[in-house]
Amino acid sequence: MKNHPIIKAGIIGFGRMGEMYLKEISKSPLWKICAICDIDHEALEIAGRLAPKGTLLTQNENDIFESEEIDVIILSTLADARKDHLFKAVESKKHVITEKPIGASLEEQVAVLGKLENSDILVAVDLPLRNAWYHKTIKEFIDSEQIGELAIVRVCHMTPGLAPGEGHWAEGPLFHDCGMHYVDIARWYAESEFKTWNAQAIRMWNYEEPWWLQVHGTFENGIVFDITQGHVYGQLAKDLTHNGYVDLIGTKGIARMNHNYVTATVELHGTSKTHVIKKPFGDKNLDILLHKFAQSLMQGHRDPFLPRVEDAALASEYAWKFLNNAALNEMPVRGNLQTLEEIRKRRNNKRIGYGLLRKKKHME
Ligand SMILES: NC(=O)c1ccc[n+]([C@@H]2O[C@H](COP(=O)([O-])OP(=O)(O)OC[C@H]3O[C@@H](n4cnc5c(N)ncnc54)[C@H](O)[C@@H]3O)[C@@H](O)[C@H]2O)c1
Repeated sequence: MKNHPIIKAGIIGFGRMGEMYLKEISKSPLWKICAICDIDHEALEIAGRLAPKGTLLTQNENDIFESEEIDVIILSTLADARKDHLFKAVESKKHVITEKPIGASLEEQVAVLGKLENSDILVAVDLPLRNAWYHKTIKEFIDSEQIGELAIVRVCHMTPGLAPGEGHWAEGPLFHDCGMHYVDIARWYAESEFKTWNAQAIRMWNYEEPWWLQVHGTFENGIVFDITQGHVYGQLAKDLTHNGYVDLIGTKGIARMNHNYVTATVELHGTSKTHVIKKPFGDKNLDILLHKFAQSLMQGHRDPFLPRVEDAALASEYAWKFLNNAALNEMPVRGNLQTLEEIRKRRNNKRIGYGLLRKKKHME
């Protein structure tokens, strides 16, 4: 890795995430945006309004892969383009920050891991929970032995967010698309691999795939877990709300966190210390990811806390395993497609909801 005075970046895929990257890059003194690529001309028009003058806007990804100016490529298309883009990055020797998942299927992800194995480009995956201050605080408390031995990891994320059919078709059912973050963070806390599991899902609104799933089971080291994740949380309620927490239960004490998307509250109940900490939530923590990535390039060695492709691939693999397990169990249907249509219209036309993608002119 060469030393960089300032990191010059190109973004491929300028949707919701691409726009967030641009915003954070624009705020950082370590980064400069040089080019943005999207196959959709409306997305490029938006980029033209938001990006600094002189940014190359293109529908041709090769303008970015072949640019001599660009050091780092940010991959924020949907998953169907990911493997090809990661392969091209290796060929063109560009460092990469990539969105998850790192391929559209497990086979593609295995191919990506193989391709990256012997390359010397720096690659980090956007797994924002790994960069969240509240998880780091809780982990440090657990490591200080204040709660005794960690025994039970409980994770819950339920919001009136992305509804089926709105987009993200290439990322699979919700428990894979979004759920893999919570699979990853459970594994991160346990510091062990999943051993056994049993999953229950429901096909809300009669949609063909489950949009809520709960799984519980064990890790190799004897820690047990439960993960609940769903975007079926009152999308048509007058006032929207959500339920997001982690609950870490030890043999002597507990540590937990909940948030309201603005503030996260960490409560630590240890054998000799009790702390309640409230700080800004941080959302996707892209500022932290970009900073660690830039520091790694500048110092010539990888920050050990930069999320790795291997962790993203494992989270994806287990998210699929839990979905497959749920498919073997009874999967009831509640509600109907008409309600889902109402939800999609409310989210798209009235712009009411969590995690809204860009407005679609025509609902398909
Ligand atoms: N890490 C996280 O917390 C997080 C959160 C949301 C989404 N994501 C991931 O980020 C990715 C993007 O999600 P999003 O919400 O921004 O989706 P989006 O639909 O808003 O944006 C995707 C953009 O990529 C463009 N695109 C598609 N194929 C392309 C190609 N071959 N070349 C160039 N542009 C292409 C589309 O035109 C669109 O503008 C997804 O893979 C998703 O899984 C991650």
